[in-house]
Amino acid sequence: MDLIQQVNKERLPKHLAIIMDGNGRWAKQKGFLRAIGHENGTKSVRVTVETCAKIGIENLTLYAFSTENWKRPKLEVDTLMRLLVSSLKKEIATLQDNNIRLNAIGNLHALPKKVFAELNDVIENTKANTRMTLTLALSYGSRDELVNAIKEISAKVKNNIISLENVDESVVNAHLYTQNLPDVDLLIRTSGEQRISNFLLWQIAYAELCFVDVLWPDFNQNHLAKALIEYQKRERRFGKTSEQLI
Ligand code: IPE
Ligand code: IPE
Ligand code: MG
Repeated sequence: MDLIQQVNKERLPKHLAIIMDGNGRWAKQKGFLRAIGHENGTKSVRVTVETCAKIGIENLTLYAFSTENWKRPKLEVDTLMRLLVSSLKKEIATLQDNNIRLNAIGNLHALPKKVFAELNDVIENTKANTRMTLTLALSYGSRDELVNAIKEISAKVKNNIISLENVDESVVNAHLYTQNLPDVDLLIRTSGEQRISNFLLWQIAYAELCFVDVLWPDFNQNHLAKALIEYQKRERRFGKTSEQLI
């Protein structure tokens, strides 16, 4: 039986986030250029997106490009940006067929005009879709997001739009790029690295973390199923005792 059939559809994470890591190492192991690794990574993206939509995950967020990734060699950044445009053009059909809405978080204005325009086009064209929200984190950094939120909230306090006493967690939430998304329930990182790399620091406060020892281009439906099954076995206590959960 397919492993994905063993996933309990009643206990899915409402929000699954994935740090898609290991494209470069995958290519290097095979003697290819890093670009080939990124290209093959897009296949894992399609499989993951389709599988998540089919099994009923409502929110999937993929870390595609970090604020720190701008520091990579220009050739690699250009390749990634080109790949992004071509993938968006190619995958719009997949999104429509599966009733998936595209969303993006990050400092999107830092993206090349062409990427920004294509991205907005797909977001606009899929905005009525309801089965799943696919969020791409692009030019995304959690610290950058938090600094922005702090600036916006401070300005509102200064201009008496909100009072300092009323600044609470929900106000902070409402000023993040992820304002319309629930907290992350499960965070998966591929490639064997066990770090967060500036991804959704606020939003993963109580997420279950799952580090998968497979490079992103090799990540398939079975790896996803295994991570979901592992997630479903965990007891999420949110600070309480086991006894309180019954
Ligand atoms: C993930 O793969 C893709 C991006 C960060 C854009 P990497 O390019 O980081 O691959 P490794 O980690 O060097 O193998
Ligand atoms: C994190 O991967 C960013 C993305 C997957 C987009 P990196 O490869 O950039 O992270 P580090 O540098 O290994 O922490
Ligand atoms: Mg990496």
